[in-house]
Amino acid sequence: MSKSITILAIESSCDETAASVIINGQIHSNFIANQLVHEKYGGVVPELASRAHMENIVPVVDEALKKAFPDVSHADRLSALDAIAFTQAPGLIGSLLVGAQFAKSLALSLQKPLIAVHHMQAHVLANLIDEPRPSFPFLCLTVSGGHTQIVQCNSPSDLVIIGQTIDDAAGEAFDKISKLLGLPYPGGPVLDKLALLGNSKAFEFAKPMVPELNYSFSGLKTSVLYFLQKQEPGFIEANLNDLCASVQYTIVEILLYKLKKAIQQTGIKHVCIAGGVSANSGVRNGIEALGQKLGLKTYLPAFQYCTDNAAMIAITAHYKYINQAFEPLSTSAHARSNW
Ligand code: KG4
Ligand code: ZN
Repeated sequence: MSKSITILAIESSCDETAASVIINGQIHSNFIANQLVHEKYGGVVPELASRAHMENIVPVVDEALKKAFPDVSHADRLSALDAIAFTQAPGLIGSLLVGAQFAKSLALSLQKPLIAVHHMQAHVLANLIDEPRPSFPFLCLTVSGGHTQIVQCNSPSDLVIIGQTIDDAAGEAFDKISKLLGLPYPGGPVLDKLALLGNSKAFEFAKPMVPELNYSFSGLKTSVLYFLQKQEPGFIEANLNDLCASVQYTIVEILLYKLKKAIQQTGIKHVCIAGGVSANSGVRNGIEALGQKLGLKTYLPAFQYCTDNAAMIAITAHYKYINQAFEPLSTSAHARSNW
């Protein structure tokens, strides 16, 4: 029998401190501490995020280890690990450094290999956590707060970006437009809930024209801003649900238009979604409807694997371990990084 693979994975790229234990490709724990400290600032404050990661990282890792190995001593939990994985890039540098430094120190003290994971690749590979899993090659529409990408996945280690945003990400569009509508941060999930109560055809907003499989969302934000500036006081309050539904409808249409083009260009029929915005009801329903129309097999990750989490870092690390793709302890974290 081949040797089992047990990995502790740490995610700290933005404002969630998370840890997960994966054994032979199965998630045994997935623990997240959300940082509520940012709410009153209407966005993530990098300095506060790093400090909160420093406070959270030890208890979060401890919880993940306890949940995965409930009946053994702390020393036995640590010695059960075959490797330590962490998010290397992209993200807030102060936040990333906390996770990276913790993972490096643990790897050094346990004398175990270190695995560096790209956060955006991990969002894509979150689709491999649970059954049903897509077969290769598949396409993934990754839509998060910082990125919007169409990725062609030929294998766990061969991911190719075939389209991406040239300015704002889809999540940024949701959050910035929510702010214009006076919704609390992060606005995406709130706008999603209100959109369910409104008429998606009530208002029409401009859709961008960008070449190839790329996206642009900054124009939509500006078009909503100019539209709102022309209205009477009280307009937003009186039309909030319809505004949310119309904005969500437009963002989903933009996302699906290029995804459809990618499906036609590549001929790939297995299609996944990933990233925080893949929790959006309009995106989920839209992908399923597109799947039915075009005869695709579509995959929607569980909500807990859509937004930032360490299970996605763990599954990516599992495949890297199989390929013996380890990093030296001299490695560091990077705020920006292509793959
Ligand atoms: O992937 P993620 O958790 O963090 C990174 O950006 O890496 O994505 C966060 C983004 C935020 O912009 C948030 O507003 C958005 O995902 N989001 C949503 C929903 N849930 C999270 N946007 C629209 N509808 C949702 N239900
Ligand atoms: Zn993310």
